[in-house]
Amino acid sequence: MFPTHRPRRLRNNALLRDLVRETQLSRDDLVYPLFVHEQGGAPVPIPAMPGQMRHSIPSLLDIVRETAARGVKAVLLFGIPDHKDEAGSGAYAEDGIVQRAVRAIKEAQIPVQIITDVCMCEYTSHGHCGAIVKGDVANDPSLDLICRTALSQAQAGSDIIAPSDMMDGRVAAIRRTLDEHGFSHLPIMSYAAKYASAFYGPFREAAGSAPQFGDRRSYQMDPANAREAVKEVLIDIEEGADIVMVKPALAYLDIIRDVKQATRVPVAAYNVSGEYAMIEFAAKAGVVDRERIIKETLTSIKRAGADLILTYHALDAAAWLA
Ligand code: PBG
Repeated sequence: MFPTHRPRRLRNNALLRDLVRETQLSRDDLVYPLFVHEQGGAPVPIPAMPGQMRHSIPSLLDIVRETAARGVKAVLLFGIPDHKDEAGSGAYAEDGIVQRAVRAIKEAQIPVQIITDVCMCEYTSHGHCGAIVKGDVANDPSLDLICRTALSQAQAGSDIIAPSDMMDGRVAAIRRTLDEHGFSHLPIMSYAAKYASAFYGPFREAAGSAPQFGDRRSYQMDPANAREAVKEVLIDIEEGADIVMVKPALAYLDIIRDVKQATRVPVAAYNVSGEYAMIEFAAKAGVVDRERIIKETLTSIKRAGADLILTYHALDAAAWLA
């Protein structure tokens, strides 16, 4: 009898397809990244990321409340300071914008996990992710700034510390700093395999964090390397990372898969600003079905192996998901 195999039998109707579906995307998987600046008042739209805003602290509280109400469990906070300086001092100021935002969310008792991004690039006048020595980003001197930033976020009430700077040894240094100051319970989610990617373009416009000279290729990874991603991830786990992240997501689904297979910790994937912008502008142009393409995209990231997905589509997706 030809053909012997009829895979179409299991695609016959929607109920049957539900029964055999391999990957279930859930709102439990999602993390919503948010931008907070020092100005008051209404949120300011980010032109490169239609639908996303720079928030004041009051408008941040509104959107975080809505995020929690939609069943999303975590937000990731990025601060946009009014003043930048050579040392990025706004990143670790006690009354820095992220520190104030974290305190405000905690005071409002919104049931959400607050993840704070630890990096210098939004706070330095040169826009690099660490300290500049002789025209280059110096690794070890940057660790002190990064640890001060992580500690001040912990003191403000952050629930998860997420270093995104890609300096060597920063997970161990942050872990030690947190432990010495009574924060041994705080998890670290490291941006472990973070590539030097053009997909961050819209974010840099949103955060005003583009490097003023050179680029980030001496610290972020070469997009051509896959085995090195596993090496980076294993080093971070060794140093104490509780969750490891691959970033960006879509052009790196193979890396998400490799990392998932090589580890036993939760794997996060960052569906970054450029990936978001491509969908939004294509949808605006009427060339793709926005809802279907967002669901398909997020499902592909989950299918590749991500346990957590950081996405600017978190609110929409949560509304569509079970
Ligand atoms: C900070 C940081 C960046 C992103 C997250 N943390 C920018 C960069 O490395 O240039 C990018 C996020 C996105 O594009 O959505 N280092």
